[in-house]
Amino acid sequence: MSSSSAEYLELKPAPTTFSVNFARLNDEAIRRAKECDSAKMPNMDHLRMRDYDHVYEPSDDTYLLIDAIGFDIDSDSSLLAARTSTTLEIGCGTGTPGVYLMMRLIGSLPSSSTVHYATDINEAAIRVAKSTALHNALPEDQFKAVKCDLASDLLQQLEGKVDVLIFNPPYVPTPNDEVGSNGIEASWAGGVNGRVVIDRALPQIAQLLSRNGIAYVVVVDDNNPEEIAHIMEDRHGIRVAPWLRRKARNEYLTILKMTTAA
Ligand SMILES: C[S@@+](CC[C@H](N)C(=O)[O-])C[C@H]1O[C@@H](n2cnc3c(N)ncnc32)[C@H](O)[C@@H]1O
Repeated sequence: MSSSSAEYLELKPAPTTFSVNFARLNDEAIRRAKECDSAKMPNMDHLRMRDYDHVYEPSDDTYLLIDAIGFDIDSDSSLLAARTSTTLEIGCGTGTPGVYLMMRLIGSLPSSSTVHYATDINEAAIRVAKSTALHNALPEDQFKAVKCDLASDLLQQLEGKVDVLIFNPPYVPTPNDEVGSNGIEASWAGGVNGRVVIDRALPQIAQLLSRNGIAYVVVVDDNNPEEIAHIMEDRHGIRVAPWLRRKARNEYLTILKMTTAA
């Protein structure tokens, strides 16, 4: 994440140690990331540099997320449009990951009636995400962007219905009082261990996923991904595995893949 500036370094938790099993899964995720082709980004030339003063500019975490979606669509037909009717991105920023997902689903099945929902706490992100969808020719009735905290305003409507959920959260460790803005700082400020927003999202993810649903969540090691996996498995019966893992600047980014299927 581009905003992990030196001022946050002293807040960094002790280096995370992983169990032997989780370390092995991390190694597999590194291998998978090396095998995987770089996904082709949606067209973003409707945006200017000044837009990124207000909305998170796609970065290494965004690219890894898109690569994970592309990898699974290329290698696992179960993700294809025929069985995907509802998708959701929490914290959509420019909308790039959700637009990519929809373009791949519609590309696989042009008659796809999948509806994508995008949320963000930042009003500017909602405006930009809608323009990204339009600019990439997504039908308006298949891309709905809603300003809200996490997916709170959609919980009732989408409970148990989301087939693919994506979330690149604010994961940088910061003081807790930096969490909760609705401007650009909301893109990175993650509170203690970078976990404040992530931890609030976990029960919502569990509530929203459909029976065969999949969630892709970006984390860094400071977030203690193994503990996140235990929380999801123990409290919600959702399996979690590191899926793609790649070093970016001074940290490892990991996509945690969460699945409800037994
Ligand atoms: C790291 S950025 C990711 C943006 C985009 N998904 C991407 O991958 O490029 C995190 C996004 O989450 C949003 N966000 C932060 N806290 C949120 C919350 N409580 N509810 C909804 N969105 C939130 C931020 O405004 C920001 O757009």
